[in-house]
Amino acid sequence: MIDDIIINRMIEAAILARENAYAPYSSFAVGAAVYAENGIIYSGCNIENSSYGATNCAERTAIYKAVSEGNRKIHAVAVVAGMKSEKPVYTSPCGICRQVISEFGDEDTPVIMAVSKEEYRIITLKELLPDTFKLDK
Ligand code: THU
Repeated sequence: MIDDIIINRMIEAAILARENAYAPYSSFAVGAAVYAENGIIYSGCNIENSSYGATNCAERTAIYKAVSEGNRKIHAVAVVAGMKSEKPVYTSPCGICRQVISEFGDEDTPVIMAVSKEEYRIITLKELLPDTFKLDK
């Protein structure tokens, strides 16, 4: 179980990161935060591209920041998203991000979908992505 103080800090970090969303094509601004094994909360925003396909979602930006700083274990993910300058709406991670969360989290990793620090829903990765693909190592 993830405690309320961490949830609060993660949502706060995701809300702040959302301010940096680079979304000139969709105008959908997303902020995310991950709670990494070292106790640090890494945040990220979506970064779009004129080629569309090169767009990076906020969740992956945050996860890749954590991993590139040496943290390969993610304990929780938070997402805050919605049209730019509007109140966020409950948004669940896209399929690619679910697969990336599965790479660095586990089936019980909580995914916090927040519209504010007071209003959020928590769902596990297992519910979002049952029967995940993993290479046998
Ligand atoms: N997006 C995210 O950053 N995270 C999600 O979970 C869903 C989608 C971004 C990608 C793109 O910049 C915009 O939202 C619209 O799809």
